[in-house]
Amino acid sequence: MAGDLTSQVLNALSKADPLLSTEAFPDVSFADLKAVLDRLASRSMVEYKQLEREEAVLLPEGEQILQNGSHEARVWEALNKAMGALSVQEIKAAVGDDKVAGFGQGKAMKAKWIGKAEGGKFTALVDSITDTTRDQLRTIHETRTLSDAKVIADFKKRTLIKVQKVLSFKIQKGPKFALELVKEETDLTEEMLATGSWKTATFKPYNFNALGADQHAGALHPLMKVRHEFRNIFFEMGFEEMPTSRFVESGFWNFDTLFVPQQHPARDLQDTFYISDPKLADKPRAEDADDQKDYDTYFENVRQVHESGKYGSIGYRYPWAEEESLRLVLRTHTTAISTAMLHKLADKKGPDGKPPPARYFSIDRVFRNESVDATHLAEFHQVEGVIADYGLTLGGLMEFMTIFFKKMGIEDLRFKPAYNPYTEPSLEIFSFHKGLNKLVEIGNSGMFRPEMLEAMGLPGDLRVYGWGLSLERPTMIKYGISNIRELLGHKVDLNFIERNPAVRLEKN
Ligand code: PHE
Repeated sequence: MAGDLTSQVLNALSKADPLLSTEAFPDVSFADLKAVLDRLASRSMVEYKQLEREEAVLLPEGEQILQNGSHEARVWEALNKAMGALSVQEIKAAVGDDKVAGFGQGKAMKAKWIGKAEGGKFTALVDSITDTTRDQLRTIHETRTLSDAKVIADFKKRTLIKVQKVLSFKIQKGPKFALELVKEETDLTEEMLATGSWKTATFKPYNFNALGADQHAGALHPLMKVRHEFRNIFFEMGFEEMPTSRFVESGFWNFDTLFVPQQHPARDLQDTFYISDPKLADKPRAEDADDQKDYDTYFENVRQVHESGKYGSIGYRYPWAEEESLRLVLRTHTTAISTAMLHKLADKKGPDGKPPPARYFSIDRVFRNESVDATHLAEFHQVEGVIADYGLTLGGLMEFMTIFFKKMGIEDLRFKPAYNPYTEPSLEIFSFHKGLNKLVEIGNSGMFRPEMLEAMGLPGDLRVYGWGLSLERPTMIKYGISNIRELLGHKVDLNFIERNPAVRLEKN
């Protein structure tokens, strides 16, 4: 018991100072003793030092030798007692242990205690021997050590002994040593104030090193931590967050407004999850009934650009089906939201009567019917950005991307011409990945096509940059995850989620 142990330590110390814990309290566990000593030391009643040393202890075979003598000694003894020479079989029988007999015979020969006699038999050569192995083991048993390191190493190899670390305490009286542990007050009570007992009471000192209790609070998922960093980058660059709380979109917003033709492979069942119930959306509806005409016009404009072209475009020249446009889908990109936001921008008027420049971003889930593997799930988080302004150029887009990615610690971008139905030109953005030792695609971008923007009612000289990337890729790189299933889904280790510290992108 801790209480008893406390007085035992104090009593022992009053008789002998200093004390060695392994001698005074050989059976007390290290942790129990340390708890008592810490308590006494915090009151300066004792002082202690922790000592660490190695000691050697006998293993079963070593104990056996200590009791019965070394293998070689036992072989010699057998031969010494025998009247004549003994064969190997007879030695074994006399010793009573094949292994001891076999091993001892070799050693005894080497020591010249025994020698070969006629007929392949053995005989003792000396009258007396000194069993050094046994003597050395006895010393080890008594002192727990041996000065001859070579012998120790040899015994260890023969598994006669093992060497183990022993922790002990050297305990001394402290300046406030006493035989009794005075009760320490932990609170100043009303009663102590009233009676004046506080004047003589001993107060327990504060322990500023104590750790608080583990709170097991909720933890943010790594993806959300990286999202937080991305949001800050966007906010710091003057972006406004788009409302993305709608996983289901109509084909109109997800595809048609973006001039993805209705026969485009991305629209077929391979890549898009279609909603089965209800199957169809209403035609685009304005939040404010006064604006409905504008939405109807927009719907009509989109049809015309697809079917016959408008705003300088010759169109795709195929019969555009309203029903296909109204099919409900799980959004395949957040660009559906960007379009809706740009369409609303067309209605806004700046000081010059034209729509003002705007910067929008969003980070939210999108869904694609892809085969699931180590780096793909059927859903991911898309980081999406849009900049609308007058006089924007392709060079400006590349410069912006360079600045944007630099804020995430990604430099040395490479741009590759690409194709999106809704942007021209389009650029895929690559960066050199040191870990993979190759260029990896980190984003897709472009300048929205005029027939897309003008159909919304935006002026012809307004240019819009757009880009998208996944949140998962930088998160996996950041946290060193190679399988996306360790990051998302039912196989995620909750400890991993809880343990991970807040993320800091290596910003410049
Ligand atoms: N929607 C594109 C994607 O899913 C990203 C993008 C957005 C590209 C806007 C250009 C403009 O990858």
